Amino acid sequence: MAESWVNLAERIGSDLHLDLQAELSGPGGRRAALIRALREAVRGGRLAPGTPLPPYRSLAADLGVARNTVADAYAELVAEGWLTARQGSGTRVADRAEPLRPAVRTPRKAPARARGPRHDLRQGTPDASAFPRAAWGASYRRALQAAPSEAFGPGDPAGRPELREALTEYLARARGVRTEPGRIVVCSGFAHALRLLFGHGQSGGGVLRGPLAVEAYGLDFHRQVLATAGVRTVPLPLDEHGARVDRLGRERAVLLTPAHQFPTGGPLHAERRATVVDWARARGGVVVEDDYDGEFRYDRKPVGALQGLDPERVIHIGSVSKSLSPALRLGWMVLPERYVDAVLAAKGEREAWASVPDQLALADFVVSGSYDRHVRRMRQRYRRRRDRLVAALAAHAPHIGVTGIAAGLHAVLRLPPGSEPSALKAAAWHGVALEGLGAFRHPETDMPVGDGLVVGYATPPEHAYAAAVEALCAVLPPP
Ligand SMILES: Cc1ncc(COP(=O)(O)O)c(C=O)c1O
Repeated sequence: MAESWVNLAERIGSDLHLDLQAELSGPGGRRAALIRALREAVRGGRLAPGTPLPPYRSLAADLGVARNTVADAYAELVAEGWLTARQGSGTRVADRAEPLRPAVRTPRKAPARARGPRHDLRQGTPDASAFPRAAWGASYRRALQAAPSEAFGPGDPAGRPELREALTEYLARARGVRTEPGRIVVCSGFAHALRLLFGHGQSGGGVLRGPLAVEAYGLDFHRQVLATAGVRTVPLPLDEHGARVDRLGRERAVLLTPAHQFPTGGPLHAERRATVVDWARARGGVVVEDDYDGEFRYDRKPVGALQGLDPERVIHIGSVSKSLSPALRLGWMVLPERYVDAVLAAKGEREAWASVPDQLALADFVVSGSYDRHVRRMRQRYRRRRDRLVAALAAHAPHIGVTGIAAGLHAVLRLPPGSEPSALKAAAWHGVALEGLGAFRHPETDMPVGDGLVVGYATPPEHAYAAAVEALCAVLPPP
């Protein structure tokens, strides 16, 4: 070969080094190396759109390769759209061959969680260090071995039958849900279920329409998902018996967290459970039940799902985000018959969200009893943590009450009126990450504002919990 690289400057008027030698170490012969070198030059912007390339003969002579090698390389790149060849004007870099531009990213603050506060008591995640790696791995292996070949083709948007059958049995047994596999649609978690039900903005479709009644305190992220879908949310006040469902008005749907109001922590009173179902029957409406942490009750057996009262009036939604991990992105919707087709249509023709091998692994995890074992283990762990928190407060800050039932992965500490902002500031100053009740308040509610801290006691790993509680007690406002 005459030269390992050729300077095309004289030929095309630009300062270009075509580094063939470097590319020769890659797969294929000289033709493949030349194709890669030219593609790289175009992609990197060193050969600009419209630039003429040297005739085959001269480039071949410069590179010491056969003329056909150059001709073939040009032809290949013309076929791929990088170059154009026109009678009379030779071969040029195609106009649409956009050079690679370095991605311009607006500088973003690293998420606080990635940097990690000293003591992380934010609600929202289970103890990630307790993910059952071995049992999940075993389920995954078994599921892959048992899966028929068709499982690795495009997925059915309803979800794998193995998982829907496993969930039918599990949800009936553990949550009192009355269903059958044909009414379960697998999704990638609660937020995804909301998007399927209400659309995701613009032409995003949706099965239900707003306005939607919601609890006056709830997850702002979910309110944002609904706002993006163009759904107006109407706040229902809360009292010691849960959401004031007697205040439901002209809405046709209501979103509730009946087992454990998020975030204030009470269950929906039995009478109100009946009232809301009666309301749905009378109005032809529907209750959307967010059963985000229904398995975690520490003082008694969990109250069954509201869906059990009327499977035709309640859409029950759950996910593994609290029980296993929010990273798995697996959840389920248990639907009244009349919504199944519309939800499947909203999902599309193929499964585009929930990985099928993960669905099969979850099915095995449930059927093999690993899910029950894991939930039991985590229930004990979180109960101990809640007890430790309550005991530490009784000892060091007896003027601060813990409200809500002994359940779930978070607790609300009631603060003296007006002290929430300063308590949050003090916590941040001392490296304790948590949120105030105010962050969860619906912007339009006229419910009196209560001051409080929402403490996610599941978040830290086991070894870090005692120090986190100690740090929390140290930053609480004095009596
Ligand atoms: C109130 C509430 N609902 C539902 C979920 C579950 O959301 P997802 O299934 O989208 O992870 C969470 C968060 O874990 C939550 O806090």
